[in-house]
Amino acid sequence: MIASSTQHIPDRLDLQEIDSRIEQCPSLPSLGSINKALQGLLFAEQRYSAQISEVIRRDPSLTSRLLRLVNSVYYGLSTPVNSIEEAVFYLGVRQIRQLTMVTPIIEDFQRLSTQCSFPWRGFWQHCIGTAILTREVVSLAQSPPDESDYIAGLVHDVGKIVMAWSFPEHFSEIHRRASLAAQDLEEIETEVLGIDHSQLGALYLERHKLPDLMVKSARFHHHPERAEGHELIIASVQIADLLMRSARIGCSGNFAEVTAEQCLQASGWRVLFPNQAAAEQTIARASLHRCLERLPSVLEGLV
Ligand SMILES: [Fe+2]
Ligand SMILES: [Fe+2]
Repeated sequence: MIASSTQHIPDRLDLQEIDSRIEQCPSLPSLGSINKALQGLLFAEQRYSAQISEVIRRDPSLTSRLLRLVNSVYYGLSTPVNSIEEAVFYLGVRQIRQLTMVTPIIEDFQRLSTQCSFPWRGFWQHCIGTAILTREVVSLAQSPPDESDYIAGLVHDVGKIVMAWSFPEHFSEIHRRASLAAQDLEEIETEVLGIDHSQLGALYLERHKLPDLMVKSARFHHHPERAEGHELIIASVQIADLLMRSARIGCSGNFAEVTAEQCLQASGWRVLFPNQAAAEQTIARASLHRCLERLPSVLEGLV
């Protein structure tokens, strides 16, 4: 994490200012390697919608934009689309091609801003890994999991991308502080910007009319017990996020250490298994740890 010593410290903003910047927030940026892979597929002679969906599933920004697009074009559908495959089917190659053509690349933006070198590739791994683990946790508590829980995990920290993109000076200052101290990231975000990444992400997704589950996942992934609706999936996102951080896989941008103890005490467990015997919880945890062990090599091949 780098910041120049002469860096200007921006003023904290009020909610109205934050909200109006979010309203004007252009397309969220994607990771260069993913956008390139997707464009390669979209312009190939032979392509399959399953392959296209598979690449989009690795990118929280593209996924959010795809779902926003499909739900605004087909807003008359009785239930909003919250599956990537379905969105790809409805939109077709031509519209997805247009979407990728106007996609900004986060590494280009970082090169331009030069203020803060945030480990974006590690962050993308954090998002994908959290999504994969969310499905595992959900499948332990209920059956069968569906695509929406994966997406809830994928976009849980979208507020950090919104912050970097719409409030670059604040983001830079927040991550300068986060890398120095063991202070909690949300506390720093609130002090510097006036809002934390959970609230910001939820505000962004809500403004862009994304399904309620995604909005709630962004908003309550650190406090699933406060979510009114979708508690099971959001509790799974919390556990997945903590497991990723405690195993130090990828980089969430939150440098405060998460111990195995904190993972075990998370409120999400009580939401997931309110009446379950300790032995069953132990089996669930063992199965999650096996999945966690395989994740680094899975992620290496994805991002
Ligand atoms: Fe978070
Ligand atoms: Fe996270």
